[in-house]
Amino acid sequence: MELVSPKDVQDLPDAVSEAEYKHAMRRVVSPVAVITARSPRGRNGLTATAICSVTTNPPTIVVCVNRRAKMLSLVGENGAFAVNFLSEQQSDLARAFSNHELKGEARLALGRWTGLKTGAPILEESVSSFDCVLEQSLIHGTHEVLFGRVVAVTSTEFNALLYRDGFFRRVAPE
Ligand SMILES: Cc1cc2nc3c(=O)[nH]c(=O)nc-3n(C[C@H](O)[C@H](O)[C@H](O)COP(=O)(O)O)c2cc1C
Repeated sequence: MELVSPKDVQDLPDAVSEAEYKHAMRRVVSPVAVITARSPRGRNGLTATAICSVTTNPPTIVVCVNRRAKMLSLVGENGAFAVNFLSEQQSDLARAFSNHELKGEARLALGRWTGLKTGAPILEESVSSFDCVLEQSLIHGTHEVLFGRVVAVTSTEFNALLYRDGFFRRVAPE
């Protein structure tokens, strides 16, 4: 096909439907994390796969959180959150933290938690956990993109829990 000019690129309509976008994205393998936050009002978190390392200097992670997620107000109140990448033994936590019917403390009761610098809940025996100060956030459609400056980390040798096509999965050697 011919290259579309920069001007015409801007005028392209939404070329794919939501269903097409979701179908293609389901094929992509993602690590699974629990994003947590704590304020004087309490603790909560949610299961997330929309996470990316932005830069190593300054060490920065972005996470994309639905604006309706209950933990988002805690992030705003304390200006901090933690990203806990789950191990293959922790799929029960991934299920609990995506169960709309469970409140924050009922979700956290399934794991053992500590704190590092900000006080956001850090999961013991996670693959890696990143304690983050909220640097900035921007709203895009249904989601809020949180930029976290990493102020403390932990890591272990456990294997990562993965998600693809609606199922939790394990890392297999080549
Ligand atoms: C595998 C998986 C990945 C998810 N990824 C995200 C994500 O990246 N961002 C998000 O906002 N919600 C994501 N969710 C949905 C939330 O975990 C879920 O809606 C959660 O219940 C929201 O918390 P709340 O019920 O306390 O509002 C994911 C769910 C699953 C099972």
